[in-house]
Amino acid sequence: MNKIDLDVALRHWAVNPLAGPVVLVTTVNGHGWVNIAPKSWVSFVSGKPFRLVLGCHREHHTAMNLFANGECVINFPSDDIAQKVWNAQDPLPPAPEEPKERGFATIPAVKVKPPRLVECRAHMECVMEDVLTFGDELAFILRVAAASVDESVLDADDPMVDLRPMFYVAPGTYGVIERGRPVK
Ligand SMILES: Cc1cc2nc3c(=O)[nH]c(=O)nc-3n(C[C@H](O)[C@H](O)[C@H](O)COP(=O)(O)O)c2cc1C
Repeated sequence: MNKIDLDVALRHWAVNPLAGPVVLVTTVNGHGWVNIAPKSWVSFVSGKPFRLVLGCHREHHTAMNLFANGECVINFPSDDIAQKVWNAQDPLPPAPEEPKERGFATIPAVKVKPPRLVECRAHMECVMEDVLTFGDELAFILRVAAASVDESVLDADDPMVDLRPMFYVAPGTYGVIERGRPVK
């Protein structure tokens, strides 16, 4: 089998072998105004307790709000709202009604100040524990303080059929897990 080199200096390869989950991160600024941003550089890094790493540019509102108060909610959208998720990358100046402007409703989180997004079916409420710096790029280490899912997800025979999580494949392109497959 021929192996074709991918140029590690490029920002986007012709194929993405490490598609990350598409999430919507909610944070709040000093006024308590909610910010929503899509992210996909997200992964578990520990299990006792659950911790995540979140990759984020230092100039993003998400990073600034995390530095300001150390809290966020990672909301997991399903593909039925893919366009709205993608549109949320367009920067907006901080405003008291950003969720409404972006077409999202909010409900309070259990353990942190940023809210959960009603349109997402799963949520992880996180507290910042550490941050690694790579120039302008930051890796936030976040402890999961609480997690929740819509009842419909747990009621389904296969939770993935209801959750339908999205994964970032390329600019403007995502993939979806449509069901869980048992290993034979
Ligand atoms: C699907 C998707 C995934 C993204 N993933 C990331 C990411 O992991 N890290 C990042 O810094 N920006 C990511 N972006 C870009 C940010 O969402 C975008 O720059 C946004 O304006 C940042 O918003 P903020 O300033 O409110 O945090 C992603 C965009 C999309 C559409």
